[in-house]
Amino acid sequence: MKTAVVYFTLGGATRSFARAEANARGADLLQAVPVKKYNMLTAFTRGCPAAIRQKCVPLQHSLDLSGYDRIVLMAPVWAGFPAPPFNTVVHLLPAGKEVEVLLVSASGSSDKSHDKVRALIASQGCKVVAQRDIRSHQ
Ligand SMILES: Cc1cc2nc3c(=O)[nH]c(=O)nc-3n(C[C@H](O)[C@H](O)[C@H](O)COP(=O)(O)O)c2cc1C
Repeated sequence: MKTAVVYFTLGGATRSFARAEANARGADLLQAVPVKKYNMLTAFTRGCPAAIRQKCVPLQHSLDLSGYDRIVLMAPVWAGFPAPPFNTVVHLLPAGKEVEVLLVSASGSSDKSHDKVRALIASQGCKVVAQRDIRSHQ
């Protein structure tokens, strides 16, 4: 099974977890980089409202995910939802893929967005086979 781990990070925590995940699985590691970069301020002012509304943001490079059987999506949780570049990657998913969602947060919980995230991925014709939260701070 060919697997890709696709991640967005602002502060670097998600990158560390994504690297470990890709190494453990022998998967390719792909980064989603937004055209308009966030900083801590704009993550709150611009990123959080967009995250809650599950909005997409343009990425610097499109990602070709057609050659993979399983795609592991990783992103930080902003205001309870995956950060907006995650949504863009979901829209790039070819139908029929197996998808895992691994979200990184300070609290280790993204419960309030679980159903909406599943619905977004299902709307692409993909199946969520695992959904897990990772706590970034102990
Ligand atoms: C704009 C913003 C919003 C956040 N909202 C939440 C939240 O709702 N719940 C939570 O547990 N952590 C929240 N966090 C903390 C991040 O999810 C956490 O620090 C994560 O590890 C950051 O990942 P990164 O270093 O890959 O960017 C937020 C952080 C930022 C910058």
